[in-house]
Amino acid sequence: MNDPGPTELAGWNVDAQPFLKSILFGVAQPVWVVDHRGLIRFANPAAVAALGYDDVSELEGRPSHETIHYRYPDGSHFPAERCPMLLPHKTGETIHSEEDWFFRRDGTMFPVSYWSAPIDTPGGRGAVVAFTDIERQREAELAVREREIADARAAEARAAQRRAIEAADAARRQVTRDLHDGAQQRFVKVVIDLQLALQALGSDPPRARELLESAADQAKVGIDELRELAAGIHPTLLTTRGLCAAVESLADRLPIPVRLDIPQDRLPPAVEASVYFMISEALANVVKHAGATRAIVSVVASDGQLAVRVEDDGVGGAVEAPGHGLAGLADRVAALDGALTVRSEPAAGTTLEALIPLRPPSA
Ligand SMILES: Nc1ncnc2c1ncn2[C@@H]1O[C@H](COP(=O)(O)OP(=O)(O)OP(=O)(O)O)[C@@H](O)[C@H]1O
Ligand SMILES: [Mg+2]
Repeated sequence: MNDPGPTELAGWNVDAQPFLKSILFGVAQPVWVVDHRGLIRFANPAAVAALGYDDVSELEGRPSHETIHYRYPDGSHFPAERCPMLLPHKTGETIHSEEDWFFRRDGTMFPVSYWSAPIDTPGGRGAVVAFTDIERQREAELAVREREIADARAAEARAAQRRAIEAADAARRQVTRDLHDGAQQRFVKVVIDLQLALQALGSDPPRARELLESAADQAKVGIDELRELAAGIHPTLLTTRGLCAAVESLADRLPIPVRLDIPQDRLPPAVEASVYFMISEALANVVKHAGATRAIVSVVASDGQLAVRVEDDGVGGAVEAPGHGLAGLADRVAALDGALTVRSEPAAGTTLEALIPLRPPSA
Protein backbone atom coordinates (compact mmCIF):
# COMPACT_ATOMS: atom_id res chain seq x y z
CA MET A 1 0.00 0.00 0.00
CA ASN A 2 1.28 3.51 -0.86
CA ASP A 3 2.03 6.05 1.82
CA PRO A 4 -1.21 8.02 2.06
CA GLY A 5 0.57 11.31 2.85
CA PRO A 6 0.01 13.51 5.84
CA THR A 7 -3.54 14.59 5.07
CA GLU A 8 -4.85 11.39 3.59
CA LEU A 9 -6.40 8.63 5.63
CA ALA A 10 -5.20 5.22 4.50
CA GLY A 11 -8.27 3.92 2.73
CA TRP A 12 -10.80 4.33 5.50
CA ASN A 13 -8.94 2.08 7.81
CA VAL A 14 -7.66 4.29 10.58
CA ASP A 15 -5.92 1.28 12.12
CA ALA A 16 -3.46 1.53 9.25
CA GLN A 17 -2.24 4.80 10.76
CA PRO A 18 -1.77 4.18 14.50
CA PHE A 19 -0.14 7.56 14.99
CA LEU A 20 -3.00 9.47 13.36
CA LYS A 21 -5.53 7.28 15.11
CA SER A 22 -4.06 7.90 18.54
CA ILE A 23 -4.11 11.67 17.97
CA LEU A 24 -7.67 11.80 16.66
CA PHE A 25 -8.98 9.37 19.27
CA GLY A 26 -7.25 11.16 22.11
CA VAL A 27 -8.13 14.79 21.44
CA ALA A 28 -11.06 16.39 23.24
CA GLN A 29 -11.97 18.31 20.08
CA PRO A 30 -14.72 16.59 18.10
CA VAL A 31 -13.49 15.81 14.57
CA TRP A 32 -15.00 14.01 11.60
CA VAL A 33 -14.16 13.46 7.96
CA VAL A 34 -16.55 13.39 5.01
CA ASP A 35 -15.66 11.91 1.65
CA HIS A 36 -16.09 13.38 -1.82
CA ARG A 37 -19.83 12.62 -1.66
CA GLY A 38 -20.32 14.28 1.73
CA LEU A 39 -20.66 10.95 3.56
CA ILE A 40 -19.22 10.64 7.03
CA ARG A 41 -16.21 8.34 6.85
CA PHE A 42 -14.67 8.87 10.21
CA ALA A 43 -15.66 10.46 13.53
CA ASN A 44 -13.53 10.48 16.66
CA PRO A 45 -15.02 9.53 20.06
CA ALA A 46 -15.38 13.21 21.06
CA ALA A 47 -17.54 13.84 17.96
CA VAL A 48 -19.58 10.66 18.51
CA ALA A 49 -20.29 11.70 22.12
CA ALA A 50 -21.00 15.37 21.33
CA LEU A 51 -23.53 14.34 18.68
CA GLY A 52 -25.26 11.98 21.11
CA TYR A 53 -24.39 8.64 19.45
CA ASP A 54 -23.20 5.48 21.16
CA ASP A 55 -20.88 4.20 18.49
CA VAL A 56 -19.06 5.54 15.45
CA SER A 57 -20.74 2.88 13.29
CA GLU A 58 -24.02 4.80 13.70
CA LEU A 59 -22.47 7.74 11.86
CA GLU A 60 -20.21 6.08 9.32
CA GLY A 61 -21.54 6.15 5.78
CA ARG A 62 -24.31 8.65 6.59
CA PRO A 63 -24.57 11.99 4.73
CA SER A 64 -23.11 14.54 7.16
CA HIS A 65 -25.41 17.43 6.28
CA GLU A 66 -28.63 15.41 6.52
CA THR A 67 -27.45 13.82 9.76
CA ILE A 68 -26.31 16.76 11.83
CA HIS A 69 -27.06 19.97 9.96
CA TYR A 70 -30.40 19.45 8.22
CA ARG A 71 -32.53 22.23 9.71
CA TYR A 72 -32.24 25.93 10.38
CA PRO A 73 -32.69 26.92 14.02
CA ASP A 74 -36.28 27.99 13.22
CA GLY A 75 -37.03 24.38 12.20
CA SER A 76 -37.21 24.92 8.42
CA HIS A 77 -35.33 22.65 5.99
CA PHE A 78 -31.66 23.52 5.35
CA PRO A 79 -30.69 22.26 1.86
CA ALA A 80 -27.26 20.61 1.54
CA GLU A 81 -26.43 22.78 -1.51
CA ARG A 82 -26.35 25.82 0.78
CA CYS A 83 -24.27 24.19 3.49
CA PRO A 84 -21.03 26.14 3.96
CA MET A 85 -19.50 23.26 5.89
CA LEU A 86 -19.41 21.19 2.68
CA LEU A 87 -17.76 23.95 0.62
CA PRO A 88 -14.21 22.70 1.35
CA HIS A 89 -14.92 19.42 -0.42
CA LYS A 90 -16.54 21.26 -3.33
CA THR A 91 -14.22 24.25 -3.79
CA GLY A 92 -11.06 23.40 -1.86
CA GLU A 93 -11.36 26.42 0.42
CA THR A 94 -11.23 26.34 4.22
CA ILE A 95 -14.28 27.55 6.12
CA HIS A 96 -14.58 28.86 9.66
CA SER A 97 -17.82 29.65 11.46
CA GLU A 98 -17.92 31.33 14.86
CA GLU A 99 -21.52 30.41 15.38
CA ASP A 100 -23.58 27.66 13.82
CA TRP A 101 -25.72 24.83 15.14
CA PHE A 102 -25.76 21.04 14.91
CA PHE A 103 -28.42 18.48 15.71
CA ARG A 104 -27.83 15.54 18.01
CA ARG A 105 -29.22 12.10 17.37
CA ASP A 106 -32.23 12.86 19.62
CA GLY A 107 -33.09 15.92 17.48
CA THR A 108 -31.92 18.52 20.04
CA MET A 109 -29.92 21.42 18.69
CA PHE A 110 -26.72 22.89 20.11
CA PRO A 111 -24.57 25.87 19.15
CA VAL A 112 -21.11 25.27 17.69
CA SER A 113 -18.13 26.96 16.18
CA TYR A 114 -16.20 24.94 13.57
CA TRP A 115 -13.41 24.74 11.05
CA SER A 116 -13.98 22.75 7.87
CA ALA A 117 -10.91 22.14 5.67
CA PRO A 118 -10.40 20.17 2.44
CA ILE A 119 -8.74 16.77 2.74
CA ASP A 120 -7.70 14.25 0.11
CA THR A 121 -9.64 11.03 0.42
CA PRO A 122 -9.36 7.88 -1.72
CA GLY A 123 -12.37 8.85 -3.87
CA GLY A 124 -11.51 12.55 -4.23
CA ARG A 125 -11.63 15.71 -2.18
CA GLY A 126 -13.53 15.50 1.09
CA ALA A 127 -13.53 17.69 4.17
CA VAL A 128 -12.31 17.41 7.73
CA VAL A 129 -14.45 19.19 10.28
CA ALA A 130 -13.35 20.12 13.80
CA PHE A 131 -16.00 21.72 16.00
CA THR A 132 -16.52 23.06 19.52
CA ASP A 133 -19.78 22.88 21.44
CA ILE A 134 -20.18 26.51 22.54
CA GLU A 135 -23.28 25.91 24.67
CA ARG A 136 -21.25 25.83 27.90
CA GLN A 137 -19.25 28.83 26.77
CA ARG A 138 -22.52 30.68 26.15
CA GLU A 139 -23.90 29.62 29.52
CA ALA A 140 -20.72 30.90 31.13
CA GLU A 141 -21.00 34.19 29.23
CA LEU A 142 -24.65 34.48 30.25
CA ALA A 143 -23.76 33.78 33.88
CA VAL A 144 -21.08 36.48 33.74
CA ARG A 145 -23.54 38.94 32.20
CA GLU A 146 -26.20 38.11 34.80
CA ARG A 147 -23.67 38.56 37.58
CA GLU A 148 -22.65 41.93 36.13
CA ILE A 149 -26.30 43.02 35.98
CA ALA A 150 -26.88 41.86 39.58
CA ASP A 151 -23.71 43.69 40.70
CA ALA A 152 -24.83 46.86 38.92
CA ARG A 153 -28.28 46.60 40.54
CA ALA A 154 -26.77 46.06 43.96
CA ALA A 155 -24.46 49.05 43.44
CA GLU A 156 -27.42 51.18 42.33
CA ALA A 157 -29.46 50.01 45.34
CA ARG A 158 -26.54 50.91 47.65
CA ALA A 159 -26.24 54.32 46.00
CA ALA A 160 -30.02 54.86 46.31
CA GLN A 161 -29.84 53.86 49.97
CA ARG A 162 -26.95 56.27 50.54
CA ARG A 163 -28.86 59.08 48.84
CA ALA A 164 -31.96 58.22 50.92
CA ILE A 165 -29.86 58.44 54.11
CA GLU A 166 -28.37 61.74 52.95
CA ALA A 167 -31.86 63.02 52.15
CA ALA A 168 -33.05 61.93 55.61
CA ASP A 169 -30.09 63.77 57.19
CA ALA A 170 -30.88 66.87 55.14
CA ALA A 171 -34.55 66.62 56.19
CA ARG A 172 -33.49 66.35 59.87
CA ARG A 173 -31.30 69.45 59.50
CA GLN A 174 -34.23 71.27 57.88
CA VAL A 175 -36.54 70.27 60.76
CA THR A 176 -33.95 71.55 63.26
CA ARG A 177 -33.75 74.85 61.37
CA ASP A 178 -37.53 75.13 61.15
CA LEU A 179 -37.88 74.44 64.87
CA HIS A 180 -35.18 76.95 65.69
CA ASP A 181 -36.47 79.72 63.43
CA GLY A 182 -40.17 79.03 64.02
CA ALA A 183 -41.69 77.56 67.17
CA GLN A 184 -38.59 78.06 69.32
CA GLN A 185 -38.59 81.83 68.63
CA ARG A 186 -42.31 81.98 69.41
CA PHE A 187 -41.89 80.28 72.77
CA VAL A 188 -38.87 82.45 73.64
CA LYS A 189 -41.17 85.43 73.01
CA VAL A 190 -43.88 83.78 75.19
CA VAL A 191 -41.41 83.39 78.08
CA ILE A 192 -40.23 87.03 77.75
CA ASP A 193 -43.83 88.31 77.67
CA LEU A 194 -44.71 86.19 80.72
CA GLN A 195 -41.70 87.52 82.66
CA LEU A 196 -42.56 91.13 81.73
CA ALA A 197 -46.21 90.52 82.66
CA LEU A 198 -45.11 89.16 86.06
CA GLN A 199 -43.07 92.32 86.67
CA ALA A 200 -45.92 94.61 85.55
CA LEU A 201 -48.58 92.71 87.52
CA GLY A 202 -48.48 94.97 90.64
CA SER A 203 -47.52 98.31 89.06
CA ASP A 204 -49.31 98.30 85.69
CA PRO A 205 -52.14 95.73 85.44
CA PRO A 206 -53.38 96.87 81.95
CA ARG A 207 -49.80 96.44 80.59
CA ALA A 208 -49.56 93.05 82.30
CA ARG A 209 -52.83 92.00 80.67
CA GLU A 210 -51.56 93.15 77.24
CA LEU A 211 -48.38 91.10 77.72
CA LEU A 212 -50.35 88.02 78.80
CA GLU A 213 -52.57 88.30 75.73
CA SER A 214 -49.50 88.60 73.52
CA ALA A 215 -47.97 85.54 75.21
CA ALA A 216 -51.18 83.55 74.64
CA ASP A 217 -51.24 84.58 70.94
CA GLN A 218 -47.57 83.66 70.45
CA ALA A 219 -48.16 80.30 72.16
CA LYS A 220 -51.10 79.57 69.83
CA VAL A 221 -49.04 80.47 66.73
CA GLY A 222 -46.16 78.35 68.09
CA ILE A 223 -48.49 75.37 68.53
CA ASP A 224 -49.83 75.83 64.98
CA GLU A 225 -46.28 75.94 63.65
CA LEU A 226 -45.38 72.79 65.54
CA ARG A 227 -48.49 71.08 64.20
CA GLU A 228 -47.64 72.09 60.64
CA LEU A 229 -44.08 70.92 61.04
CA ALA A 230 -45.20 67.57 62.44
CA ALA A 231 -47.65 67.20 59.56
CA GLY A 232 -44.81 67.82 57.09
CA ILE A 233 -42.66 65.15 58.74
CA HIS A 234 -45.35 62.52 58.87
CA PRO A 235 -48.99 63.46 58.51
CA THR A 236 -51.06 62.18 61.42
CA LEU A 237 -53.89 61.27 59.07
CA LEU A 238 -51.60 58.89 57.22
CA THR A 239 -50.93 56.95 60.41
CA THR A 240 -54.48 57.01 61.72
CA ARG A 241 -56.62 56.68 58.58
CA GLY A 242 -54.30 55.69 55.75
CA LEU A 243 -53.26 56.89 52.32
CA CYS A 244 -56.67 57.80 50.87
CA ALA A 245 -57.64 60.12 53.74
CA ALA A 246 -54.16 61.71 53.90
CA VAL A 247 -54.08 62.43 50.15
CA GLU A 248 -57.68 63.76 50.24
CA SER A 249 -56.64 66.24 52.91
CA LEU A 250 -53.56 67.19 50.86
CA ALA A 251 -55.60 67.67 47.67
CA ASP A 252 -58.20 69.83 49.48
CA ARG A 253 -55.53 72.43 50.19
CA LEU A 254 -54.44 72.77 46.53
CA PRO A 255 -55.54 75.60 44.23
CA ILE A 256 -56.55 73.24 41.35
CA PRO A 257 -59.05 70.36 41.27
CA VAL A 258 -57.49 66.93 41.82
CA ARG A 259 -59.38 63.74 40.97
CA LEU A 260 -58.50 60.89 43.31
CA ASP A 261 -58.85 57.20 42.71
CA ILE A 262 -57.25 55.63 45.78
CA PRO A 263 -58.46 52.49 47.57
CA GLN A 264 -59.39 52.76 51.27
CA ASP A 265 -57.38 49.62 52.11
CA ARG A 266 -54.37 50.00 54.35
CA LEU A 267 -50.93 49.21 52.94
CA PRO A 268 -47.62 48.42 54.67
CA PRO A 269 -46.52 51.59 56.54
CA ALA A 270 -43.30 52.00 54.51
CA VAL A 271 -45.28 51.80 51.26
CA GLU A 272 -47.98 54.19 52.53
CA ALA A 273 -45.36 56.74 53.58
CA SER A 274 -43.39 56.54 50.32
CA VAL A 275 -46.50 56.71 48.16
CA TYR A 276 -47.82 59.65 50.20
CA PHE A 277 -44.56 61.58 49.79
CA MET A 278 -44.42 60.73 46.10
CA ILE A 279 -47.96 62.08 45.56
CA SER A 280 -47.22 65.08 47.75
CA GLU A 281 -44.05 66.00 45.79
CA ALA A 282 -45.74 65.33 42.44
CA LEU A 283 -48.70 67.57 43.33
CA ALA A 284 -46.36 70.26 44.69
CA ASN A 285 -44.56 70.17 41.32
CA VAL A 286 -47.90 70.42 39.48
CA VAL A 287 -48.73 73.57 41.43
CA LYS A 288 -45.21 75.07 41.21
CA HIS A 289 -44.22 74.25 37.63
CA ALA A 290 -47.01 72.81 35.46
CA GLY A 291 -49.52 75.64 35.03
CA ALA A 292 -52.09 72.83 34.90
CA THR A 293 -55.87 73.13 35.15
CA ARG A 294 -56.29 69.77 36.87
CA ALA A 295 -54.50 66.70 38.15
CA ILE A 296 -55.42 63.04 38.52
CA VAL A 297 -54.02 60.69 41.16
CA SER A 298 -54.62 56.97 41.01
CA VAL A 299 -53.37 54.07 43.08
CA VAL A 300 -54.11 50.54 41.89
CA ALA A 301 -53.02 47.32 43.58
CA SER A 302 -53.01 44.24 41.36
CA ASP A 303 -50.88 41.18 40.70
CA GLY A 304 -48.79 41.81 43.79
CA GLN A 305 -47.76 45.29 42.81
CA LEU A 306 -48.92 48.83 43.37
CA ALA A 307 -49.20 51.23 40.44
CA VAL A 308 -49.20 54.86 41.54
CA ARG A 309 -49.81 57.51 38.95
CA VAL A 310 -50.00 61.29 39.12
CA GLU A 311 -50.79 63.15 35.93
CA ASP A 312 -51.45 66.76 35.01
CA ASP A 313 -52.44 68.64 31.87
CA GLY A 314 -49.74 71.28 32.18
CA VAL A 315 -46.73 72.46 30.19
CA GLY A 316 -44.61 69.29 30.61
CA GLY A 317 -40.82 69.32 30.57
CA ALA A 318 -40.14 67.73 33.97
CA VAL A 319 -36.56 66.52 34.38
CA GLU A 320 -34.78 64.82 37.25
CA ALA A 321 -32.10 66.98 38.84
CA PRO A 322 -29.77 65.67 41.55
CA GLY A 323 -30.77 66.75 45.03
CA HIS A 324 -34.28 67.78 44.01
CA GLY A 325 -37.75 66.36 44.43
CA LEU A 326 -38.01 64.00 41.45
CA ALA A 327 -34.58 62.43 42.00
CA GLY A 328 -35.47 61.94 45.67
CA LEU A 329 -38.69 60.23 44.61
CA ALA A 330 -36.83 57.88 42.29
CA ASP A 331 -34.58 56.89 45.23
CA ARG A 332 -37.53 56.48 47.58
CA VAL A 333 -39.28 54.17 45.08
CA ALA A 334 -36.02 52.27 44.34
CA ALA A 335 -35.58 51.66 48.07
CA LEU A 336 -38.86 49.67 47.88
CA ASP A 337 -37.51 47.71 44.85
CA GLY A 338 -39.85 49.70 42.63
CA ALA A 339 -39.28 51.83 39.55
CA LEU A 340 -40.34 55.35 38.74
CA THR A 341 -40.99 56.61 35.22
CA VAL A 342 -41.53 60.23 34.24
CA ARG A 343 -43.28 61.05 30.99
CA SER A 344 -43.28 64.77 30.35
CA GLU A 345 -43.29 65.92 26.74
CA PRO A 346 -43.44 69.69 26.21
CA ALA A 347 -47.05 70.91 26.14
CA ALA A 348 -48.36 67.39 26.73
CA GLY A 349 -48.61 67.35 30.52
CA THR A 350 -46.62 65.24 32.94
CA THR A 351 -47.25 61.73 34.19
CA LEU A 352 -45.29 60.15 37.03
CA GLU A 353 -45.78 56.44 37.47
CA ALA A 354 -44.29 54.24 40.16
CA LEU A 355 -44.56 50.45 40.16
CA ILE A 356 -43.87 49.09 43.64
CA PRO A 357 -43.87 45.38 44.53
CA LEU A 358 -46.19 44.48 47.42
CA ARG A 359 -44.53 41.68 49.37
CA PRO A 360 -46.62 39.20 51.32
CA PRO A 361 -46.71 40.23 55.01
CA SER A 362 -44.43 37.34 55.97
CA ALA A 363 -41.59 38.55 53.71
N1 LIG B 1 -45.48 68.55 36.72
C1 LIG B 1 -44.51 69.27 36.14
N2 LIG B 1 -44.79 70.05 35.06
C2 LIG B 1 -43.82 70.77 34.47
N3 LIG B 1 -42.53 70.80 34.87
C3 LIG B 1 -42.19 70.06 35.93
C4 LIG B 1 -43.15 69.26 36.63
N4 LIG B 1 -42.51 68.63 37.64
C5 LIG B 1 -41.24 69.02 37.57
N5 LIG B 1 -41.03 69.88 36.56
C6 LIG B 1 -39.73 70.47 36.12
O1 LIG B 1 -38.72 69.57 36.50
C7 LIG B 1 -37.81 70.20 37.39
C8 LIG B 1 -37.37 69.22 38.45
O2 LIG B 1 -38.41 68.95 39.37
P1 LIG B 1 -38.00 68.59 40.85
O3 LIG B 1 -39.24 68.29 41.61
O4 LIG B 1 -36.96 67.54 40.80
O5 LIG B 1 -37.30 69.90 41.37
P2 LIG B 1 -37.97 71.27 41.88
O6 LIG B 1 -39.45 71.08 42.07
O7 LIG B 1 -37.52 72.36 40.97
O8 LIG B 1 -37.24 71.46 43.29
P3 LIG B 1 -37.62 70.73 44.68
O9 LIG B 1 -38.45 69.54 44.35
O10 LIG B 1 -36.28 70.37 45.26
O11 LIG B 1 -38.38 71.73 45.46
C9 LIG B 1 -38.54 71.41 37.92
O12 LIG B 1 -37.66 72.44 38.23
C10 LIG B 1 -39.44 71.77 36.78
O13 LIG B 1 -38.75 72.57 35.84
MG1 LIG C 1 -40.18 69.45 43.18
